[in-house]
Amino acid sequence: MEQLRRELAIGFDIAELIPQLGQLRIDVFQDFPYLYAGSLEYEQKYLQAYTLNPLSMAFCVFDGDQLVGATTGMPLSAKSTDIQQPFIDRGLNTDEIFYFGESILLPDYRGRGIGHLFFDVREKHALENGFKVTAFCSVVRPDDHPSRPVAYRPNNDFWKKRGYIEQDYCCRMSWQDKNEAEETEKELQFWTKEWK
Ligand SMILES: CC(C)(COP(=O)(O)OP(=O)(O)OC[C@H]1O[C@@H](n2cnc3c(N)ncnc32)[C@H](O)[C@@H]1OP(=O)(O)O)[C@@H](O)C(=O)NCCC(=O)NCCS
Repeated sequence: MEQLRRELAIGFDIAELIPQLGQLRIDVFQDFPYLYAGSLEYEQKYLQAYTLNPLSMAFCVFDGDQLVGATTGMPLSAKSTDIQQPFIDRGLNTDEIFYFGESILLPDYRGRGIGHLFFDVREKHALENGFKVTAFCSVVRPDDHPSRPVAYRPNNDFWKKRGYIEQDYCCRMSWQDKNEAEETEKELQFWTKEWK
């Protein structure tokens, strides 16, 4: 960890990180459970949204010039209606919720506490900016999914240990799986933590 450089970018400053962030998302999310067949073109559009909100953040970890890990977040109120709606339906104030995007780390850098650091940095940013709830969603795949590696380790215990509660509400997002010819809709479950 000592030799790794850390960088926190906020709002428009995220723009210059987009090419590397997009490539890292494609590299990490091609694996189960995401199985994402991404393109840099899609990534450019998706990540552009982070540059448009002054409270968006991207925290990056570099080994030399190479981006090896990153985590992102933005106010829930800046996300699409599909993502906000489950919270609105439950009478929650979306202005108080900070939404975590991805946490992505190349396999060689895992198991050294960087995943915890990603939570620490995002939670600090959310609380410093007055948010009362932090939230994220996670793709739901069946336990017997044919692409699930035998040694696959879900993050659920990690998230619970961080104080996050698995909610019974979901949203849907579409992307193309590696073995699919076109996009299909996936169910993603919300996890939230309330800060008193
Ligand atoms: C999620 C991810 C960022 C976590 O990064 P990480 O640096 O490996 O995480 P940490 O080293 O901080 O460990 C976090 C917890 O994971 C668990 N963990 C980490 N490595 C583990 C291992 N080899 N075996 C079992 N549990 C492990 C532990 O519970 C650990 O917490 P603890 O040390 O307090 O017990 C990384 O695994 C990753 O990029 N995964 C693929 C993408 C993904 O699924 N992202 C999450 C949703 S966007």
